[in-house]
Order: sequence, then C-alpha cells, then structure tokens
Amino acid sequence: MTVWGASDVDAAAERGATLRVSPRDVVTPLAHERARELGVVIAAADAADRPAPAPSPSSRPPSSGTTDRRAPTRSSSTTAGVRGNGSGPSVPSPATPPAPASAAGTVREMRPPSPALFRRGAPLPAALRVPSGSTGRVVIVGAGHVGMIAAMRLADADVFDEVVLVDIDEGRAAGIALDLQHTAPLSDFATRVRGVGTVAEAGAADYVVITAGRPRQPGMTRADLVSTNAEIVGDLARQVAATSPQAVIVVVTNPLDEMSQHAWTSSGFPSGRVLGMAGVLDTARFQALVALEDDGRARSVEAIALGSHGEEMVIPLSRATRGGRPLSDQLAPARVNAVVDRARGSGAEVVGLLRSGSAFMAPGTSAARMVLAMVRESDEVMSVAVLADGTYGIRDVYLGLPVRLGGQGLREIVEIPLAPNELAALREAGDRIRERLGSMPKAS
Ligand code: LAC
Repeated sequence: MTVWGASDVDAAAERGATLRVSPRDVVTPLAHERARELGVVIAAADAADRPAPAPSPSSRPPSSGTTDRRAPTRSSSTTAGVRGNGSGPSVPSPATPPAPASAAGTVREMRPPSPALFRRGAPLPAALRVPSGSTGRVVIVGAGHVGMIAAMRLADADVFDEVVLVDIDEGRAAGIALDLQHTAPLSDFATRVRGVGTVAEAGAADYVVITAGRPRQPGMTRADLVSTNAEIVGDLARQVAATSPQAVIVVVTNPLDEMSQHAWTSSGFPSGRVLGMAGVLDTARFQALVALEDDGRARSVEAIALGSHGEEMVIPLSRATRGGRPLSDQLAPARVNAVVDRARGSGAEVVGLLRSGSAFMAPGTSAARMVLAMVRESDEVMSVAVLADGTYGIRDVYLGLPVRLGGQGLREIVEIPLAPNELAALREAGDRIRERLGSMPKAS
C-alpha cells in the first residue's frame, strides 16, 4: 500500500503524466485537490488486465524527475525504513526501480477504498497510516536557531520527503541544510534537506513553520516589535498562501498570539489551517520544571498551559497531575505556584542567561512536535494558539486552547473542565490579546 500525496501529483504534473495508482493505495485528500487544480488524472491500473502485476513498491511510476525542485516521491509502507535515497534524479533507488511504461496497463478511474478517506480533514484509519513512511514536504521559514532546531527534529523524525529551510540569507539556509543532511546516516533518516532564499523556491508544502521575525532589541518597545514582525509575518503568510494554498501554517514568531491571528488574516486561510506554537512550549516548560523539584520524570507530569504566550499564561492547576495523582497532593502550593511563575517567565530567564538571542531548543522542538502530531494524526490533546470559536466563552481571538490536531490542521477545540478562577483567567487572556490586536496594523 502506498500513500500518494500532493507532491506526487506535482511530480506527475511536471512530467505531464497520469498519476497511476494501485487499487490498494491511498490518495490523500490534498492530492485529490491538487490533481483537480492541476488537471492531473488519477487512474488505476486494472489488475485484471495486467499480465504480471507488479507488487506495490515497484508499481510506482518512474521516480526520476527533470528538476530537483520536485518533492521526492514517498515510500510505500512496505518499504518504510529501508528507503535508500528518496528519488533524487541522479541516484536510482534500489528499493523502488522505475516501472517500465508498459507496466501501467489499461487504466480506469480510481475507486477510493473508502469515501470517508476523501472527506477533507478525515483521519486515515489506523491501518492505512504510514507512521514511519514519508509524507511530503515541510517548509521552515527563518533559518535562525529556532528554525534550525525545528528542521533537525523534523528531519530526524524521518517522516517527510523533504524539509526545506528558507531564509533571506540563502547561504545560511543552504549551509544549515547541507550540514543537517550530513547527519542522515548518524540519525538514520531518508529525508532530503534543502535551503533556499524564498518561499516560492521552497515549493508547495503540506506544512509551513514561520519562525522569521525580529527578536526584541535593546531600546525597542513592544509596539516596535509588533509592527516590525507584523509586517514580516503578514508578508510571509501571503507568500505561503500563494505557494502552498493547502498548507497548514504554524506560527512561532512573537508576540505569538497576535502574530498567529495576523498570519491568519493575511493568508486568507481557514482559521483551522493557521496555528500558533506556544502552549506546547509553555506546557513542556512547566512539566520540566516540576520534574526538577524532585526526581520525577517530566513526562509523568500531566498539565496544559493555556491563554497567552506571556503574562496571561494560564496553567490550570485543577487539571495538573503527576503519575495520575493531583499535583497539589504532592507539592506544597507555594512550590507549585513558584513553578508556574518560573514557567511563565522561562523565555525571559533563558534570554537573561544567553545575553544575546532567545530560547531555541524547546521552541524549535515544540514547533516540530506540533507538525509531527499533525502528520502522524496522533490525536493527542495539546495546547495550540487557535481562533477561539465560543468554547470557554471566548470568540474571535487567537489564544492557547486545548485542541486535537489532524493532518490538515485543527480538528477540534477540546473543552476540559476548568475551575471558575481558571476560566476567568482564560477569558481575561482573550480580552488582553484582543486589546493588543486593536493596535496592530491591519492585514492588507
Ligand atoms: C520563548 C520565546 C520563543 O518563550 O517566545 O522562549
């Protein structure tokens, strides 16, 4: 079974070819949409008409392309883990030899294995997921420290055909990409890593992580930072919309909640495809800091950081547990409150220690974690900056809420029971962010 995605359709379009798939294959909703846009016919070789049907891995169309801009085609689930080299034009893959043109046989319109698979946003049934196969292209805009760590985590995960770093300093993007590519045998991934100077050169992506923006400089007011970054993020969101109209955008640029909302309005995307990374980071910081209080493991702490990425961060202690038991039974209230304060100020604490620049290990890893949750359809509940839809009594503003993500962005906002003071703090966070948005430049 092979999963065909949008990049495969792009490759077929470049060859001017029909995308031929086997009846057991899965064609993603995004691939269908792309095929409609590009006029690519998706057709299946009729097994009954074939003298010698090739097994799924070798029934792929020729993988060589005329340009290295094309996303490498993905492995089938049966070859996942032994994929040798993607589909670079100059290196034939021993695992997936090009099928002779005649192997396609008679074609007919493909019948989807299940209509549910083609409903936009529907999760793939577990049996059809390709957890360790590759699934398209992720673009990371901004090859600073955060972008670099996100790229490394995503390449290491070995689930994407291609990770592309974009930076106005093209040499930096290309240099980091090559350096990261050199780790492929060390970390055992088959992902291709590229570095380019523009979003357009990166090509159409399934996921785009925007890390570009200015950190606050000495003497710069918060308002200065907002307007500078709003210009950068708004412009990038429009470029992403033009290059990758079906992508999910993950915003990392600060101030996070405001920039996420700004990216949404600038992109023209449905709000479910523009997400902000902060809650995953703030939650991880809280977990890590609780674990430092004694000998526990950070993962055994269950908590979620909601609200804004900053002063109005809300960590509902009524929901915080460790090893399944309430945290309040295990740590004195003063210690728990001190950890909450430290988590809220963690970004500043790291800035203070570094003296130049801001945190990047945990932010880059958190952004990658969100992308991986989507591509793997992990279905876990995580805190993500999304457009509030009335749940929790908050509407029309981006802030950190508990959500489930699917392959195409937000699947649902999850309502978890909160204590009255926690709910009030969350609503307050929404109000403060909305106020700050009022002073931002409007998206053109
Ligand atoms: C921080 C920045 C990434 O919290 O917002 O470190």
